[in-house]
Amino acid sequence: MAVTYNPQTKQFHLRAGKASYVMQLFRSGYLAHIYWGKAVRDVRGERRFSRLDRAFSPNLAPSDRTFSLDTLPQEYPAYGNTDFRAPAYHVQLENGSTVTDLRYKTHHIYKGKPRLNGLPATYVEHEQEAETLEIVLGDALIGLEVTLQYTAYEKWNVITRAARFENKGGERLKLLRALSMSVDFPTADYDWIHLPGAWGRERWIERRPLVTGVQAAESRRGASSHQQNPFIALVAKNADEHQGEVYGFSFVYSGNFLAQVEVDQFHTARVSMGINPFDFTWLLQPGESFQTPEVVMVYSDQGLNGMSQTYHELYRTRLARGAFRDRERPILINNWEATYFDFNEEKLVNIAKTAAELGIELFVLDDGWFGKRDDDRRSLGDWIVNRRKLPNGLDGLAKQVNELGLQFGLWVEPEMVSPNSELYRKHPDWCLHVPNRPRSEGRNQLVLDYSREDVCDYIIETISNVLASAPITYVKWDMNRHMTEIGSAALPPERQRETAHRYMLGLYRVMDEMTSRFPHILFESCSGGGGRFDPGMLYYMPQTWTSDNTDAVSRLKIQYGTSLVYPISAMGAHVSAVPNHQVGRVASLKTRGHVAMSGNFGYELDITKLTETEKQMIKQQVAFYKDVRRLVQFGTFYRLLSPFEGNEAAWMFVSADRSEALVAYFRVLAEANAPLSYLRLKGLDPNQDYEIEGLGVYGGDELMYAGVALPYRSGDFISMMWRLKAVQR
Ligand code: GLA
Repeated sequence: MAVTYNPQTKQFHLRAGKASYVMQLFRSGYLAHIYWGKAVRDVRGERRFSRLDRAFSPNLAPSDRTFSLDTLPQEYPAYGNTDFRAPAYHVQLENGSTVTDLRYKTHHIYKGKPRLNGLPATYVEHEQEAETLEIVLGDALIGLEVTLQYTAYEKWNVITRAARFENKGGERLKLLRALSMSVDFPTADYDWIHLPGAWGRERWIERRPLVTGVQAAESRRGASSHQQNPFIALVAKNADEHQGEVYGFSFVYSGNFLAQVEVDQFHTARVSMGINPFDFTWLLQPGESFQTPEVVMVYSDQGLNGMSQTYHELYRTRLARGAFRDRERPILINNWEATYFDFNEEKLVNIAKTAAELGIELFVLDDGWFGKRDDDRRSLGDWIVNRRKLPNGLDGLAKQVNELGLQFGLWVEPEMVSPNSELYRKHPDWCLHVPNRPRSEGRNQLVLDYSREDVCDYIIETISNVLASAPITYVKWDMNRHMTEIGSAALPPERQRETAHRYMLGLYRVMDEMTSRFPHILFESCSGGGGRFDPGMLYYMPQTWTSDNTDAVSRLKIQYGTSLVYPISAMGAHVSAVPNHQVGRVASLKTRGHVAMSGNFGYELDITKLTETEKQMIKQQVAFYKDVRRLVQFGTFYRLLSPFEGNEAAWMFVSADRSEALVAYFRVLAEANAPLSYLRLKGLDPNQDYEIEGLGVYGGDELMYAGVALPYRSGDFISMMWRLKAVQR
């Protein structure tokens, strides 16, 4: 049984894959956290925390100076009654006080995993895949009930958590903080990892020792953002890519988030994650409820690769949905870096023609096809085809592209409006704004108020009309600025601070509707590259444009960091022109190809301007990728050498039966008279022999334990890609 409750010990024991997660009720119903880690049969709960009379840790009962919530490891800590660490939630009563007290009421254990109303979340396809535990806590004074929702997956070391608030009392409650989870580690002897970045350099890995006090990754930008990602991990000091204990926390949400670790006076570590309480409140009228988004917690005793492989499999198969989830993704050509806004039908058709000759499968028309959009200063919101550029409309263009043998895809940015647009002139109150203040622009655009039902309905109809107007089989859904002056003309004053979260609920409804109306369309999300590369988006759209930075060397770090959580099938990666448009670097077509082929492959340059030799090479890359793409997109991914730690990067993909693998190696700068180096492979069958194309036959054991010698090459930005196939020697 995956989840059990022992009434004698009052212990809950969740078994997820090969991990255990144990909680216990103490005193009059306080839910304590007892253990999370490698599976155990049993845990003696009372020995898992201190029972000392600690100075300045007050006591709930004066008769027992050894019991304080300040020293109790907890599952969903409150504020105001003896715990001074960061609370999981914070509620204001009508009388102004903010002290609450949640105690155990009841619990339910059942098979399967329920959906989270209106929110993205991991799911099961069969009841047997997981078991769910709901623990109902209540504050008797005010009638507040909080249900802690836990699901333990059978196959993976995965526990998901969320919380549901219900106001069953008679007064209005105000949620000031409603995180999705909190967990207390008995020690803070860990490093923590997060994925900070910026536009053009998303998700760089930072690993630092935990220190006393609070360390956090968070977003206040109205999107999960380039600057931080809704993911953190606690990593044992001795853990690396391949071994050691790692605890991952990934938030299935695309808006403002908080991921925090607090190390307290006794060197314990409290991890909390959820919607960022900053500028957030939620009014809960009697009878109303509030559902938090989900956190996916992964335990690995196989280092970071072990953690990532679990996230990859789970997110690929039980977060992403739809017809394309398990399907090989098409190789695309996108016209953005080829033409920017300066195109006409002929130019596009010529690109598509060359693409077809080279074996590319999908042509994507990017920004600039609608309204008067000749630059980024106008027309967002006016989703009407520009007949000057495309006299035969989208339909005419798409049909020509189809006749060449390519599918047709389209860029849209439906969450935005340009002040210079028909839509804005008609509905100036449809954007996020606050009364009597200027509306700050970003890229000359404003954010539509998706907290409003009428705005969402309008967008659903407008974009549906566009998508139905032509044979479109792919959509790139973009979002190119963050939120400022967050407020809604449609909400009363006491609900203004709900706007950012209501926006996300609106967005999720719109995306749910669009993807259900157009199940044959492959949706890729984008936000100035990877500004919203998060699990929330992946639930609706199974792939994301990883970064606007297409430089091969920059991409080593971006793709390596992204792979910590997100599956390879989700990571859009394109070969672009040199000198690279973002950093000016000139990397060979081979290296650019190898980096892009390590993801969801495509091209983004004017291929009509290439030499015959370059075209031939692209033809070979396309053919090669078609051959290996199942392995790349759905194989097991191993990071081997980190670009954050040196001059090299390497990774590999292994098929489920270990009969095939693909290895990619990159060296950034050349070194004179360099020492020999060996690359140790991972995940192969030690008893199997493998042929490496061009290098001969090696044992899997030799490749993993002795490594393969890297041939000497001169020059900067070099790469090698080897294909391995199991053979009989
Ligand atoms: C964003 C995207 C790019 C491109 C432009 C178009 O920056 O990330 O790929 O689509 O918008 O304006």
